[in-house]
This record gives sequence, structure tokens and C-alpha cells, in this order.
Amino acid sequence: MKFTVAIDGPAAAGKGTIAKALAAHFGFDYLDTGLLYRATARKAMDGLDPVAAAKALTAHDFQRDGLRTAKVGQAASKIAALPKVRAALVAFQHDFARREGGAVLDGRDIGTVICPEAEVKLFVTASDEARAERRWKELAERTPDLTLDEVLADLRARDTRDSERKTAPMAQAADAVLLDTTALGIDEALAAAVALVEARMARG
Ligand code: DC
Repeated sequence: MKFTVAIDGPAAAGKGTIAKALAAHFGFDYLDTGLLYRATARKAMDGLDPVAAAKALTAHDFQRDGLRTAKVGQAASKIAALPKVRAALVAFQHDFARREGGAVLDGRDIGTVICPEAEVKLFVTASDEARAERRWKELAERTPDLTLDEVLADLRARDTRDSERKTAPMAQAADAVLLDTTALGIDEALAAAVALVEARMARG
């Protein structure tokens, strides 16, 4: 069976948590496409040409430590604006999405560009403040000096760049369901996502 769930939205809205839990619930495979851009950015920070780095990604690159830092996030957002970098990463994502057994992909352009044919599309969002607070709590352990205001500014800068770039900007697909997690717990958000997938499966 081929069944694709596309989940897009801004940083720290809960996409990854929902995507991972949804994949586990249905036994689908899960791809965090942000990691493709982060791993590319990490190589570019080491001096590689970003397009060459994107073309040469291997599974090993996704297991590197330090991909989820704010610094790599900003660098990823910058190289993600380069059309040739995005083009180099399309085939991998597309093949992943249409593999047998079902797939959940999360990112910024999954429902609009990578998988416009996805069976279910979600756009997960939350208020800037709620997202900053969640991300701040995640990062506080490793970076105790980080302030909430710094995290908020970082998220806003990244969202602006990601939604204003010319190629495949972050956007809600016309047929995506909006899920605002500002006042939703993970269980409620997941239940809403599961219900959408089940309804789509029942339609065949
Ligand atoms: O989801 P994330 O925070 O790990 O993504 C890091 C950056 O990668 C994000 O700021 C923009 C870019 N990205 C993208 O342009 N398209 C995607 N499908 C996923 C991520």
C-alpha cells in the first residue's frame, strides 16, 4: 500500500512529535526532511559547496551530533533557499514518500512541492510564543544561558526566511488541514491527526 502523510509548518510547532507518533500508530516510515537540510548545512559549515554536499548526503550524515542546534537550524534555513540545493534533495524525498507501506514526511514544502498528491496533508502551527517556549525548554538543559527572547527571535528569523524565499516557500497547501497546537496537548493533536488519516483510508 502507498499512502503519504505530508506535515508542514513553522519551527517548533509540534510537527515532528505528531509525525513520529502518527507513523508509529499506523506502522508507516517517518522522514524528518529538516534533517536533510541540517546535514547539508553542517557539511557546508565545514567548507563544502552546499549543492555538492546535498548531492553527496549519506545515512551517516544524519547521525552526526549537533544537527539540532539553533546555529545549524539557521544555516539550514539559509542553504534551503538555494534552488539547486532543494533540487538535489527532491528525488530522495519523493522515493521515500511513495515507498510501499506508507510514509509520513514533515517539513516546509511537503504538501505543496514534494508530495502534492499526498493522501493526507496537515499544516501544524502554534503561536510564536508557544513555539518559543517549547523550544526553549528543550534547549535549556544543554544551553542554560539561552533566553526565551533569543529563542523567539531565532524562530521568527527562520520562519520569515523560510516563508519568504522564492523557491518552495513554507506554505499551507490549499487542501491541507490546519492544526493549531497552541492550546492542544500532544494527545489531542495526535488524536486529530489519526482521525484524519482514518477518514481518508475509509474513503479508499
Ligand atoms: O524542520 P527543521 O527546523 O529541522 O528545518 C531546518 C531548516 O531546513 C528550516 O528552517 C528550513 C529548511 N527546511 C526546508 O526548507 N524544507 C523542508 N522540507 C524542511 C526544512
